[in-house]
Amino acid sequence: MFSPLTALLLLAIISTVTSTANSCLPSELKALQAIKASLREPNDGIFNSWTGTDCCHNWLGVSCDENTRRVADINLRAGTLYTTFEKARKPGYMTGQISPEICKLTKLSSITITDWNGISGEIPKCISSLSFLRIIDLAGNRFSGNIPSDIGKLRHLNRLSIADNVITGGIPRSLTNLTSLTHLDIRNNRISGYIPMGFGRLQYLGRALLSGNQLHGPIPGSISRIKRLSDLDLSRNQLSGPIPESLGLMSVLGTLKLDTNKLSGMIPKSLFGSGISDLNLSHNLLEGNIPDAFGGRSYFTSLDISYNNLKGPIPKSISSAAYIGYMDLSHNHLCGPIPKVLDHLDASSFEVNDCLCGKPLEACKKK
Ligand SMILES: *[C@@H]1O[C@H](CO)[C@@H](O)[C@H](O)[C@H]1NC(C)=O
Ligand SMILES: *[C@@H]1O[C@H](CO)[C@@H](O)[C@H](O)[C@H]1NC(C)=O
Repeated sequence: MFSPLTALLLLAIISTVTSTANSCLPSELKALQAIKASLREPNDGIFNSWTGTDCCHNWLGVSCDENTRRVADINLRAGTLYTTFEKARKPGYMTGQISPEICKLTKLSSITITDWNGISGEIPKCISSLSFLRIIDLAGNRFSGNIPSDIGKLRHLNRLSIADNVITGGIPRSLTNLTSLTHLDIRNNRISGYIPMGFGRLQYLGRALLSGNQLHGPIPGSISRIKRLSDLDLSRNQLSGPIPESLGLMSVLGTLKLDTNKLSGMIPKSLFGSGISDLNLSHNLLEGNIPDAFGGRSYFTSLDISYNNLKGPIPKSISSAAYIGYMDLSHNHLCGPIPKVLDHLDASSFEVNDCLCGKPLEACKKK
């Protein structure tokens, strides 16, 4: 039999062993504590759960790899965490900054810190050294500064979203090295400069959402080499030059938004016989006739070419389109009769043109 003293000693040893087993890597614990210290979240009490030494257990928004017990995901989305804290029903709000200590979590696979409205400061530059990252989602905050210029080092990155922040500077050229990227969303920032010529290297991209920035220069033709791209939104920038004809030859492109730019030249024929069903080219400097290129493959839930300098008649071939749910041709210089297939549309779809006539506008004058 053990003496009481030995028993106590044994107990002490066992509890030390178990508490070490239930603690995360000290450097990761320290990094998380630094992250907590640089953020403030008054409503939900998220950081009240960040206590003790086992950051892998019951720390809201932190999860670890089961085998290695290394921190793998940080997932703090406003509005989704408070259910465990029934007392707080206020909208999510978090202020402060993301500590660069986050880069000591070297096995991180995802960082999702979204919709807190108040988190500011720069995206830590060192983030591009986290080589296991698959997801960066920082949308809906007040992040400023530039996209880290060597972001292209993140070879496994699938998803990059920094939408709805106040990010400035250009799209780094290295971004075209993110060849695993499937989802890019940089909407509504203050990003300027050109879309990199090599954008088409992002072969796995399904959605490219770049609207609401200050991008200028041409639309790189290389975009049309992205075979899986289904949704391209470049609207509300200052892009100029022609619309590449090749955009209409992309196999799965369904949504194309180029509205509110300075695009000029003619509307490429190819766009009307493509798989694009949601097309917005409004508020540009497009000129010439509307191409007479509608056909059985033209299927539009929405087609908006308003606010351009288009002239001539509404093409006859529009009668052979498979479907036109909504169309806006207003604020151009079009002239001539409105084809019957469009007479279900509102008069506002045709207003402010040179001399369109017929239902839903006034009847055409017989010559
Ligand atoms: C892209 O990656 C290649 C190969 O690693 C590298 O040589 C090149 O400098 C990178 N491009 C940019 C713009 O970072
Ligand atoms: C097309 O874009 C313009 C300008 O950005 C916008 O006002 C309009 O609502 C859009 N059209 C459709 C059908 O969504």
